[in-house]
Amino acid sequence: MATLMPEPPASRPLVIASAPGKVILFGEHAVVYGEPAIAAAVDRRVRLELLPSATGEPSVNWYPMREEHHAFLLNVFKLAGIEVALRAATTSDLPSAAGLGSSAALTAAAATAALSLAGTLTAEPGATLTPKEEEDVARVAYEAEWLAQGGSGSPTDTATSSHGGAILVDSSRGAGLIRTVTRADRTWHLHDLEVPRLTLVIGNTGARGRTADQVAKVKRLTMKSAFARETVRDIGALVREALPALKAGDAERIGRLMDRNHNLLCVLGVSTPKLDQLVEAARRTSYGAKLTGSGGGGCMIALTDRAAETTKNLERLGAEVYAVKLGGPGARIEPDA
Ligand code: MEV
Repeated sequence: MATLMPEPPASRPLVIASAPGKVILFGEHAVVYGEPAIAAAVDRRVRLELLPSATGEPSVNWYPMREEHHAFLLNVFKLAGIEVALRAATTSDLPSAAGLGSSAALTAAAATAALSLAGTLTAEPGATLTPKEEEDVARVAYEAEWLAQGGSGSPTDTATSSHGGAILVDSSRGAGLIRTVTRADRTWHLHDLEVPRLTLVIGNTGARGRTADQVAKVKRLTMKSAFARETVRDIGALVREALPALKAGDAERIGRLMDRNHNLLCVLGVSTPKLDQLVEAARRTSYGAKLTGSGGGGCMIALTDRAAETTKNLERLGAEVYAVKLGGPGARIEPDA
C-alpha cells in the first residue's frame, strides 16, 4: 500500500454525499446476459466528503489517489468534468468487496458529490434527486464502474445505489420504467419496484470476492457450456416467478425461490464451501437463503422471522452478521454537520 500523505490542518468539506449499499434479491450474474434481476437498497450507506487538496495531489483517506487502487473515483472526477485535485474522505457501514455494493455506493456518492461541485446537480442536502439528476448520477457512476472493471457488468448495482428503494432490471420495458441503459450488444431497462420493507439477516464469510473476476468466470463457463447458458435462463424464469411473490409479501414463496436461486448460482460456480455452509445453517430457521452479489466469498442473505436464532447459528460458524432493512433513500447530498 502507498505511503500516507502529510496531514494538513483541517479544512471544511466542499460537498458531502452518501449512497446506500444494496442486496441482489434474485438474478445476479444472469442479469449480465439480459435476464431480469431484482435488487434493493439497504439501510447501510457510504458517505464521502470532498475537500480541497492542500498538497495539490488528489487523495483518498490520506492515501494518494492512484489508478490501480482508485480507478472508480478518478473516472468519476473525469466524467463529471472536475479538473482540480481534491481530497476525498470516506466512511462506510458496509463491508467492502462482500457483495453488498460498497464500491457501487462509493461510486454513486462520488458521482453525486462531483456533479454537485460541477454545478450539474443542485439538490439541497437531504433532498431526493430529480429524475434528471438521478439519471446523471447513475450514468456517471455506471460508466466509471464499467471502465474500472475493464468493460464488464450490468448497471444493476450503481442504479440501485443511485435510485434507492428497489429496482427490477429487465430486457423489456414495463410499468415504473426509470431509464434504459445500453452497453455493447446489451440493453437493460431499469424499473422502480415496490417491495415490502423486509428485514434480512446477512452473513459475511469474511472472504473478499472481486466482482470483475466472478463475472469473467461465469462468462468463460457460459461460452463453453450449454448447460450453464440454460442455467442462466432458469435464473431469469425464477426472477419472473419472484415478482408476484414479492408483491404479495409471500415469505414462504420468496424463501423457496431464494433457495432455488442459490442452487442455480452454485451450478454457475460462484458459491464457495463457506457460503454454502452459511446458507445451509441459515435455512434451518429461515424461509430461505442465498448468496448475494457476485459470490466467490462475500455475503449471503436469509429471509427469516427468527432473526436471533439465525444470527446465532451464523455467528457460531464464524460469520459477521448484520440485520438490514430493504429500501430507503438513494444517493443524496448530506448537510455539512
Ligand atoms: C454484482 O453485485 C452483480 C453481478 O450480477 C454483476 C453485475 O450485474 O454487474 C454479479
